Amino acid sequence: MTPGGGGAKRVRLFIRADEWQRRGAAALQALHQGWWLGWLDHRDLDDLARRQYARWPRYRDDTYNTSGLTRWEADAVRAHFPAEGAILVAAAGGGREVVALARLGYRVEGFDCVEALVACGRETLMRFGVNARLELAPPGGIPEGLGHHVGAIVGWGGYMHIPGRGARIAFLRGLRRHVDAGAPLLVSFFTRTGPSRRLVWTQRIARALRRLRRSPDPVEYGDTLDRTFDHLFTKDEIAQELAAADFALVSYAETPYGHAVGRAV
Ligand SMILES: C[S@@+](CC[C@H](N)C(=O)[O-])C[C@H]1O[C@@H](n2cnc3c(N)ncnc32)[C@H](O)[C@@H]1O
Repeated sequence: MTPGGGGAKRVRLFIRADEWQRRGAAALQALHQGWWLGWLDHRDLDDLARRQYARWPRYRDDTYNTSGLTRWEADAVRAHFPAEGAILVAAAGGGREVVALARLGYRVEGFDCVEALVACGRETLMRFGVNARLELAPPGGIPEGLGHHVGAIVGWGGYMHIPGRGARIAFLRGLRRHVDAGAPLLVSFFTRTGPSRRLVWTQRIARALRRLRRSPDPVEYGDTLDRTFDHLFTKDEIAQELAAADFALVSYAETPYGHAVGRAV
């Protein structure tokens, strides 16, 4: 049954108002994110990520950090990683993947760029009797003195926080130096599909501002700023960035969370 007379009119009015509200919200979001992406350089965006992750209690919580791998992470490790050996975990945060992999019997070295998380992760490792290392590294950087590994993981969602394709590839190359040929690498990220007016405008506004400020840092289509800097990826982009660091894409999925596995060539 459909409402007649005044009811039908009100429904049509709501549909139109709702559409305008959505467009307005998307335009405001593009303006806000584009403006701030334009004002903040890559170094500022790294600083932002460090401050935000230091603030969020979740990554310092024992229950969370000992909660194990998510289903898709466990499936990827089972399908692509050797059953034993040493694993490198970048963007390890408070050590969730480090603890989980050590409990599966792997030798684990992890690192993260947030001092408070590394300190808290080390305490968790000690308190729970987990034998693994957790080091501090600069954002987008690799710590000194890492060993050789049979596989590497860029911890949940960490890769997309690195601003700039060049910096992301340099990061992957840094990891590549610490794994054998044939070793798997798991990375995870937000994805994007199809054209988006919001992303076009975010990039236009941010680019114009960075140019005006004579900032040398590029703004890429897919860059967003929603509490942290995140680059949203397509499958081609991920495949290209992996290839530029000598990893061949072997698996790619957009659900339940964007992730890809590369194999060191
Ligand atoms: C969603 S958290 C995941 C932490 C941990 N792997 C987990 O699953 O709980 C993303 C991690 O990326 C790290 N990160 C943020 N910006 C980064 C950057 N520019 N380079 C490397 N790591 C970064 C953060 O410190 C944070 O620990």
